[in-house]
Amino acid sequence: MNRALRKAVIAGNWKMNKTPSETTALINEIKPLVASASCGVVVCVPYVDLQNALEATKGSNIEVGAENCHWKENGAYTGEISAVMLKEMGVKYVIIGHSERRQYFGETDVTVNMRVRAALDAGLTVILCVGELLEEREQGITFEVVSKQTKIALSGVSEEELKRIIVAYEPVWAIGTGRTATAEQANEVNAAIRSVIAGLYGAEAADGVTIQYGGSMNDQNADELLSQPDVDGGLIGGASLVASKFAAIVKAADR
Ligand code: 13P
Repeated sequence: MNRALRKAVIAGNWKMNKTPSETTALINEIKPLVASASCGVVVCVPYVDLQNALEATKGSNIEVGAENCHWKENGAYTGEISAVMLKEMGVKYVIIGHSERRQYFGETDVTVNMRVRAALDAGLTVILCVGELLEEREQGITFEVVSKQTKIALSGVSEEELKRIIVAYEPVWAIGTGRTATAEQANEVNAAIRSVIAGLYGAEAADGVTIQYGGSMNDQNADELLSQPDVDGGLIGGASLVASKFAAIVKAADR
């Protein structure tokens, strides 16, 4: 990554793991291991774990994120949580457009954009996920897919608001499979996403955007991935649930 231009951020995506009490315990384990980190450290946890996460991270350098939010501030949307609710709790980040939301819960580029808008309006920082399916990579349309996802997600987002967008490139075939993209593959797509953003906002604004890689990133491969010029951090699933592994990735981002 290029530290002169942008900040490295390592974020854990806990997905549907950990109860509230387990959240407190895991954060208490992570806290001392990452206390001297100079990169950003974020844990994105299930809604019901947010309060415990906020309490456990108080006074530390770890920030808290949610894993999704609805596009309306309030209303008759049984089971949903709004961005303003998260903001009032003290949550700073929200993951939007994760491929598991797209795959299993009918998320589309358009609803991703609506959620991005709502999150920005509420004052949150967005971790926007994009990434191609295996068949799309095999068809040679990876750049087209991530370009379309990025452009639609950022529709109506101002250059000022872009400062509260982190993009996470997560090839769907690399998520939870143990099959990581090579460092070159990750860098190539991250650079392509940056050039899409440059086309929308100009090169200077694009150079300031943190673009993470996610998909089977762990303590073993983090160094190589994070040494790439356009890989500015990671969105970590499985390895973020093990304090020592998550801390090792944070250390790799600081090297
Ligand atoms: P894994 O690190 O478990 O592959 O998950 C990546 C991911 O989906 C993070 O959002």
